[in-house]
Amino acid sequence: MYHEVTKHSQHRYARSLGYMDWDTQPNPFREYIGAKKILLPLALDNPTPPYNMLSTKLPAAPLLKESISQLLQFSMAIAAYKSANGNSWAVRCNASSGNLHPTESYLILPPLLEEQNNRSSVLHYAPKNHELEELVSFETDFWQELPENSFLIALSSISWREVWKYGERAFRYVNLDVGHAWQSFLISAKLLGWELTRLDTIHSNDINTLLGLNQEKRFHEKELGDMLLVVSAQNVQSSLSIDRLLEALPLTYNGVANKLSPSMYDWEIIPSIEDATSTEQIAQPKDFYTHYSSTSQRASKNVILNRRSIHVMDKIRSHITKEEFFTLLKSVSGSLDGKENSAHLVLMVQRVEEFNEGIYIFVRNKRDRIALQESMHRGFLWKECELKNLYLLEEREIQIASQAISCSQAIASDGAFSLGMLCNFAPQINEYGAHRYKELFWECGAVGQQLYLDATSMGLSGTGIGCFLDDMFHSMLGIKDNTFQSLYHFTVGRGYVDSRIQTQEPYEERE
Ligand SMILES: Cc1cc2nc3c(=O)[nH]c(=O)nc-3n(C[C@H](O)[C@H](O)[C@H](O)COP(=O)(O)O)c2cc1C
Repeated sequence: MYHEVTKHSQHRYARSLGYMDWDTQPNPFREYIGAKKILLPLALDNPTPPYNMLSTKLPAAPLLKESISQLLQFSMAIAAYKSANGNSWAVRCNASSGNLHPTESYLILPPLLEEQNNRSSVLHYAPKNHELEELVSFETDFWQELPENSFLIALSSISWREVWKYGERAFRYVNLDVGHAWQSFLISAKLLGWELTRLDTIHSNDINTLLGLNQEKRFHEKELGDMLLVVSAQNVQSSLSIDRLLEALPLTYNGVANKLSPSMYDWEIIPSIEDATSTEQIAQPKDFYTHYSSTSQRASKNVILNRRSIHVMDKIRSHITKEEFFTLLKSVSGSLDGKENSAHLVLMVQRVEEFNEGIYIFVRNKRDRIALQESMHRGFLWKECELKNLYLLEEREIQIASQAISCSQAIASDGAFSLGMLCNFAPQINEYGAHRYKELFWECGAVGQQLYLDATSMGLSGTGIGCFLDDMFHSMLGIKDNTFQSLYHFTVGRGYVDSRIQTQEPYEERE
């Protein structure tokens, strides 16, 4: 129901205010007033391995304030300040729809930092100053259940930040953004030799309790827990119970959340879908294959900090080589989090050497291969290409369709290719419950963040496309039911650098 109602079509876009109400624009920086602040040392000068070393297991860094700082610096922190025409704004390592940043991140740390006074704590990460805010401290023996030097990351969302601009479709963007943040953490942890395990049998209410988000009096705008991740030098059971941690928590926390907007307006469908999907997560089958294939020698931190969305593609220069195309696909071929993939990439190829213009599909889970073929036009070729699991479906002129499907955005048609992430949809939600709806967006967001990074590592540009005409894309493929649905689009090419926009280093004011 939510999904159908929030589709964009040629005749009707999903309901939103339809204009930008600047008076109520939400503050993108959450702060807990009254909470103890722990300033983190900047890690921007820390050396990081070349990007192509992501494919190897790096030695684990010790768990220290400096390494925690680096983890956050290259995942959720401000990457640069931009300014033009008297306006300035911050951009971050993690991409976010409309740069509105609904995703908040928290650390649950064992006694580690001097400021924790030998107690465990729940801390909010405040990217504005690159600091932690201690919300609560407590004693617990929970850490005995994990390998030494492990800790937790929790992600949550303030949907109002996206609702403000996108109205009813905002819940989709919120969850795509969670996926972007998750993959940002995964890559930053990898640079420190740390593994990230997403707990997959946890209830959203338990994350809310852990973060204090159910203490409604401390919040003006609703914030809801999404994801809990264990950071460790080793692999951890994804079914880990956090009951012992929950038992140790005090009832009230420190700090009151800052008010983000002077007023808000409601879209009833948003709390309804939030409630409907705030159920228990059900463990999914594992798929241990991951593959990072970029050969880029650029320092990983430079790739992460220089990843930017582009506003205009240079179609004359947007051609890419077959090798670049394959590297991008391989970078997201395996499971990005150890769970089975659900999203397949339907590629609208426009400017890739040795590839004729047309529609291709990159199948990311062989389980779905036959079902995909049965759901699509009978006339599709399914001709195997040189890269495993890549098939040509139809040779045709595709630029006009690519742009029309992407809400008429030329960044889709002027690049090397654009793509739609076609997910195994109704079967997954039927099998794993309503929460899976969010998880499908998380997977797509994570794929998007990885594509951004790999494109950047090769000197290319990528941009996420949340604005697309759902059923125009489905009907191009012959899809008539909900077995497969496209949840996120993406474009890759070469962007124009807008010389009117000035760039400033992050956190200069702290030096
Ligand atoms: C889920 C998602 C959807 C997006 N949709 C669009 C889009 O439809 N059109 C567009 O030009 N940019 C889109 N973007 C790009 C954002 O506007 C961009 O990430 C944001 O302005 C921050 O800039 P940065 O990516 O350079 O950090 C999207 C990004 C995300 C993460």
